[in-house]
Amino acid sequence: MRIVLLGPPGAGKGTQAKLLEERFGIPQISTGDILRQAVQDGTPLGMQAKQCMDRGELVPDSVIIDIVAARLAAEDCRDGFLLDGFPRTVAQAEAFDAMLQRRQLALDATVDLHVPRAELIERLSGRRTCRQCGHMFHLRFDPPSKQNVCDECGGVLYQRDDDCEETIAARMEVYERQTAPLREYFRDKGLLREVDGSRDSGEVFAQILHRLLPAG
Ligand code: AP5
Repeated sequence: MRIVLLGPPGAGKGTQAKLLEERFGIPQISTGDILRQAVQDGTPLGMQAKQCMDRGELVPDSVIIDIVAARLAAEDCRDGFLLDGFPRTVAQAEAFDAMLQRRQLALDATVDLHVPRAELIERLSGRRTCRQCGHMFHLRFDPPSKQNVCDECGGVLYQRDDDCEETIAARMEVYERQTAPLREYFRDKGLLREVDGSRDSGEVFAQILHRLLPAG
């Protein structure tokens, strides 16, 4: 199965990607996670990416396209993959099409998560992530049992730098301008599967499965 997860910041792409990864046994490829790791490691890519991410802007297409092309060539992507946060511009989508064509592969579906803006802001401002294992919590919807401590591994929870009010607003604007046009792009190809992402995560997951495997 080859799937793209589309949706604005906070729509639940990362949350649903983890569930789908487990269900289908395919790797989640999160361009945001790859960039955050590069920032943490202090690599040249990380230094370039941090400037864009802190402003809520996108990292240049050429940089991201090369990262994804290299990642898709890895052995664990042979039987499928789940893209979380890519493509994000029409140029990235066209480059992705070319990557698939070169390998004679086809995308199965693009899942588009719809969530009202007020809910997105609440989700992003309450998100906390474990520094050690990456597990995600939400202060209101899925709180850790002990403040700032991960229930999974005991690691420390942190708030992403780009989850502050000002950067959230910039990310939303960038999404509407640069990423939302991809809905039409994938709709025209008959690949768009629209899902109400505002329900609780179990219900959203059930809807996604229903859209991906309508007979199942
Ligand atoms: P990225 O990391 O991809 O961030 P994003 O798209 O803004 O999405 P988020 O990770 O914030 O949200 P999500 O939809 O995954 O929601 P989540 O499941 O975490 O990108 C960050 C930056 O990197 C970009 O701004 C850009 O600079 C750069 N970048 C990345 N990819 C790029 C690309 N292709 N090109 C150029 N630049 C790129 O959930 C959020 C919270 O809500 C969590 O706390 C969760 O617990 C909670 N939650 C989830 N689902 C539910 C639910 N159903 N009900 C209640 N709470 C829920």
